This record gives sequence, structure tokens and C-alpha cells, in this order.
Amino acid sequence: MATQPTSKPQPFEEFCRETFNPKKEFAKPEVLKGYRVLSCTQYILGPSCASYLAELGAEVIKIEAPRRGEAMRHTTPFNEPFLYPLSKWVPERGTGLGFLGANPNEYFVSIDFHRPEGQALVKKLAAKSDVFVENYRPGTFDRWGIGYRQLKEINPRLIYCWLGGFGGWGPGRVRASYDILGQSQGGNFGMTGKQEFLGGAPAKHTIWLADYWGGMMGATQVLAALYWRDHVSGEGTFTEYSQVHGVTRQLEYALPLYGKHGITRERWGNWDTQLCVHGIIKCGKSSYPQSENPQEMEEGYVLISAYADKDFARLCKAIGDTTLAGKYAKADIRVKPEGQMEIYPALEKWAADKTKEQVAAIMDANSIINQPVWNAKEVANNPHWNERGALRWLDDPTYGELLHQAPAYKMSATPPRLKWALKPVGADNDYIFGKLAGLTPDDIKRLEDQECI
Ligand SMILES: CC(C)(COP(=O)(O)OP(=O)(O)OC[C@H]1O[C@@H](n2cnc3c(N)ncnc32)[C@H](O)[C@@H]1OP(=O)(O)O)[C@@H](O)C(=O)NCCC(=O)NCCS
Repeated sequence: MATQPTSKPQPFEEFCRETFNPKKEFAKPEVLKGYRVLSCTQYILGPSCASYLAELGAEVIKIEAPRRGEAMRHTTPFNEPFLYPLSKWVPERGTGLGFLGANPNEYFVSIDFHRPEGQALVKKLAAKSDVFVENYRPGTFDRWGIGYRQLKEINPRLIYCWLGGFGGWGPGRVRASYDILGQSQGGNFGMTGKQEFLGGAPAKHTIWLADYWGGMMGATQVLAALYWRDHVSGEGTFTEYSQVHGVTRQLEYALPLYGKHGITRERWGNWDTQLCVHGIIKCGKSSYPQSENPQEMEEGYVLISAYADKDFARLCKAIGDTTLAGKYAKADIRVKPEGQMEIYPALEKWAADKTKEQVAAIMDANSIINQPVWNAKEVANNPHWNERGALRWLDDPTYGELLHQAPAYKMSATPPRLKWALKPVGADNDYIFGKLAGLTPDDIKRLEDQECI
């Protein structure tokens, strides 16, 4: 039998490049198109939850206090009025940079939740929505008459996602919570930071990790509840997410270790309690000696991972150290504190006359996993992440040219996408209230004049 000529299969890299091409995102459908989400959210925890759904194509309507908007617009600096206008009613104020990244792709309306007419408007919107997200103190919306119990009477299919600090019940429930508090009470800061003998103390993360992670957990809850409603029960759900509990959920083995052995996991800084070498070392030479940025003029840092015995042997060879190679050939000896306290300083001594790039090149040449610690400038200029569309120069309708991060995952048939970064408070009052609440331009003008919207 004659054999058919076989065509060469497309290389996997080419398959991925074509399948996930960022330039073709807008030609494909959006997976959550047709779902409507009301986002009565503030700061980062609630907003990020809603914005993850907006990245997937849901119509997300952010509702803020009239004129001033939500607190996050005022909490961080760089709120130049001409760059990031707050609202047409408050032209002398801008929106702080902290707001960026947490509210993309959304429509922006304003409602005063205290006023009966405002509450009636929320109910009208909720009647036509699938999801309601809020992150106020427990029971705030219930007190205003627009919480889950009231809204489900109007729309039994509504999924109500409440994100808070400590949950809706229990003795610790009423306090205010922020990312930093969540990480502190949840147990994270108790083991983050430099070691005691290196003069360390608990360290906070620079980014709002508990907020953005919590937002993602909230979005996961919403997707599960939509599945439950649309494929199983036909009914809505009330979901609760506690920011503090969310941090505790991430504590890895710290709780089992304490529970079984009574051992409290301690801070171990840029090293690792389970693996050695698996940490960050200092390189004595700056990569940017001419920079005017003092932090860049400092020495650099690089991550090295060579915890398997054979990798550690190669690392010792690469740095020309036979003593360490012999003394710490075995992982269980290396990982002990005394071992780490000798190995990491030896690595830093070797790297004292090198930049992080020079160290990385030597590690690469010896097949040792490594990565220079990059700053935002280095990430922004990285060709790999640029080609993959992880970063985008947006031609934002409100703010013009803007560098922005894009969704961190890809979907072949229904890619998530970035449309715009943010808008001023109440920018979509006409569009949304006209479309969903049947308000005329005169109604809208009257309510805006009264600061009800
Ligand atoms: C963030 C937090 C500390 C703010 O606390 P707070 O402002 O004291 O209390 P609430 O969030 O319940 O907000 C109530 C106030 O919001 C104001 N408000 C905000 N938007 C409003 C609007 N559109 N209309 C009317 N009032 C509004 C009112 O002044 C209201 O005051 P009132 O209680 O007198 O009616 C609190 O909401 C919280 O702990 N949230 C859960 C955790 C969280 O998400 N933290 C932020 C992320 S780090």
C-alpha cells in the first residue's frame, strides 16, 4: 500500500503563537458576554473581583458615590486632574494611580445609596443583573435596604458576592479591614521578612496581594454560582469571602506543622526553610551605575535555585568552591540553618564584584535556574512579555496613551481582553440609566443636580 506523504506537524510554539495571538483577541467572542454585574465596590478587594469578570466580557457597571467617587480614587497620589479627571463636577481633582489596574473595562455610574431614589435605582438595576458585588462592612447594604435579602425578593436569580474582612458572623466581624490587616491577622506577615539574626522584622508586601488574590477568589465564587444557577438550580446565591481567611488559606504547611508538631513557622527572609539553595542573593555591582534612581544605583539581586544535590554540585563548580561542595553535598545537611548561614554568604562573597546579569549569565552557562530580580522598568521593556501581550500601550478613550497590564491568562476560543483602563465618576450615567432604568435625559439631569446620582 502506498504511504501518504505526511506534512510536518506545526511546532508547538507556532501553534500557541497563532492560537493566542493578542492582535486577534478582539475578533473572537467573549465568554461572559450577556452577563451583567453591578459592582458597588471600593479600594481593591471588591473592584478587582468585578474587573476580572469584566476582562472576561461581562458588562460590569461600577456604582460610586456621586461626584467624589469611591475612596480609592483619593487614597493614593499622582491624582493630577488633567491626566486622570475625577468627574465633570469636580474638575480640580484627579484619580490616584492606585485606582489603575483594579477597574478596567467597566461602565461608571454614580448613586447615593442613602437616598430612597438612589436605593430605588439600585433595585431597578439589580432586577436586570446577574451578579452584585460589594465589599462594605458586614450588613451595610442590608441596613440600606439593598442587601442580598432585599434584592433577592426582586431578582431570585441574583448572585450576591460580598467580600469583607472577617465574615458576616462571629465575634471579630465588625472591624474594618484592609489588605495589610488581612495579611497581618491571617498569619502571613508572621513569617514574611528577614531572619531575626539578620536584623529582620515582619515585612509587608509592596503589592496588595490579599486584595487582588481575594478578588480572584470572589470571581471564582461568582463563576461557580453562575454554573449552579444556569445548569443546576435556576436560583441565585449569597456568597461571602473573608479577606483574612483567604490569607490563612494560603499558609501552606504552617498550620499543619503547628497542629501536628507544635512548631511555629518562622521568618526565613530570602532563603527557604525547605530547600537550599533556593533564594535571592545580593550581587555587589550595580547594573545601572549611571542611573539617577538611587535604588537602581544600588547593587542588584538574583534568584538562584540549585537545591537538588546534582545542581548544588554544579553551582559549587561554577563558583569554584570545593569546600562547600564536599561539606554540603547532601540536601538534608544543606537545608539546616547552619548550612544556609554558611552557603548564602559564600555565594554573595563570590557575587560581590558582579552585576545580577553577570551572575545570571554564569548560572545559565552552568544550567542552573536563576533570575535577576527585575523592577517595573525591566518588566515593561522585556521583549518576551511584550510579544505575548502581557503589557499593552492602550489608546485609552479618556486618558490617552497608557501602559497597562493585560489579563494574565489566555483562552483560545474566548480570550479575556483589556478595553479601557478607567473612566471618571458617573461617565456612563446617561447610557446606563437610560438603557436599564428608563430614565430620560431630564430625569438624569435632575438627579445629578440633586447629587442623588
Ligand atoms: C473598607 C472599609 C474599611 C471602609 O469602611 P467604612 O467606610 O467605615 O464603612 P463601609 O464600607 O460600610 O461604608 C459605609 C459608608 O460608605 C459611604 N459611602 C460609600 N459609597 C457610598 C455611596 N455610593 N452612597 C452613599 N454612601 C456611600 C457612606 O459614607 C457610608 O457611611 P454610613 O455607614 O454612615 O452610611 C470597610 O468597608 C471594610 O472593612 N470592608 C471590607 C474589607 C475591604 O474590602 N477592605 C478594603 C480593601 S483593602
